[in-house]
Amino acid sequence: MYEVEIKRLDDQGRGIAFIDNKITFIKNALPEERVVCKITKRTKKYNVGEVIEYKTKSKKRIEAKCPYFSICGGCTLEHLDYLDTIEFKKEKLKHILEKEQIKYPKIQVVENENNYFYRNKLSLKVIKGAIGFYEENSHTLIPIEKCLLARPVLNDAINVLKTFKVTNGEAILRSNTNDEVLIAINTKDSLVVKDENFANVKIVGIVLNDKCIYGQPYLYERIHHLLFKISYDAFFQVNPFIASHLFEEVEKNIVSTNTVLDLYSGVGVLGIVASKKAKKVISIEIIKNAVLDSLENSKLNKCSNIYPVLGDAKTVLPKIKEDFDTILIDPPRKGLDKNSLQLLLQSKAQKILYISCDPFTLARDLKELQSVYKIKKVTLFDMFSYTYHLESMVVLELR
Ligand SMILES: C[S@@+](CC[C@H](N)C(=O)[O-])C[C@H]1O[C@@H](n2cnc3c(N)ncnc32)[C@H](O)[C@@H]1O
Repeated sequence: MYEVEIKRLDDQGRGIAFIDNKITFIKNALPEERVVCKITKRTKKYNVGEVIEYKTKSKKRIEAKCPYFSICGGCTLEHLDYLDTIEFKKEKLKHILEKEQIKYPKIQVVENENNYFYRNKLSLKVIKGAIGFYEENSHTLIPIEKCLLARPVLNDAINVLKTFKVTNGEAILRSNTNDEVLIAINTKDSLVVKDENFANVKIVGIVLNDKCIYGQPYLYERIHHLLFKISYDAFFQVNPFIASHLFEEVEKNIVSTNTVLDLYSGVGVLGIVASKKAKKVISIEIIKNAVLDSLENSKLNKCSNIYPVLGDAKTVLPKIKEDFDTILIDPPRKGLDKNSLQLLLQSKAQKILYISCDPFTLARDLKELQSVYKIKKVTLFDMFSYTYHLESMVVLELR
């Protein structure tokens, strides 16, 4: 056992202390707290510890609302007041950008008005009939009754899922702002699906191992005056409230332009937002259903100037011989691949909007991009409240 003082938080919101000069990460411990901890993992470079007793508590500590706090690894910042979580995320982003020597103006923040019950997607595990999340960094299931980050209808849908009698597998529950629910399940079990068990939950579709077995394999969502079809396996932003602010910010930052590239386009949302100000939008996306959705979404939103391409950005982008004025990049966590980054550096596009859910890969890519582009604006969107994750958008202009 060790008694230590927590010096600061790490990027995952864990307390940092030093034991025999070695950095030690301790979850559910806040700066200025003195805790007695035990070491649960030792490596050459760091330790991981667990609090046994709080000797002094931080004035900033509040009671976490979730019964699974500090176990499931989802809402790791729930022991802080909401505004303190925003401060943490701002400092985290600053720290990561500064480590890569990125030159940027003051960070703007878009807070989440609905900072609980905001998620429109729940990814659940089912083991031996129990439904829940994996415990942090393990494959031990924490059975859950409800998740405080998920829209209430998704918590109701967990009860519907229970009636399907899945023994082992995975389930993804998605909803829209109309409270319609789409359930996708991967399992070797056969399901018991009876609509009298849906209670008051509007289940619009059930997909079993990529085959639709009830209703439809997609949802519609209306955000920012636009309508989107979203297939069960296509990406969509998990927080509709913050997504509408993100789309607004994208729209604001696109001035009248000729050709827009929407790289990593999903169901085409950002291209559609940009299309009104562009002569032509070319979008690239790797998931087939997302590209098919994007074709329908262009029609639904009366955009006739969007040309989606299905494929891997790395191989598709070099084949497109167009000059782009504006480039929208919204990659998965791993950020830009090296080929695409080189092509973007040579593109001479006047403006790039880089939207990212991983500040580390964002900073890595900005380090290269800032040799040709100047960073004009950085906005942090609190898309994932009470978790240590953050969404950001960086506006870059050709030097
Ligand atoms: C963060 S999402 C952004 C989607 C969209 N821009 C939006 O706002 O809804 C990233 C998208 O990139 C797609 N993707 C992942 N790897 C890709 C690749 N190598 N090439 C093209 N698209 C890819 C994913 O399927 C996903 O739709």
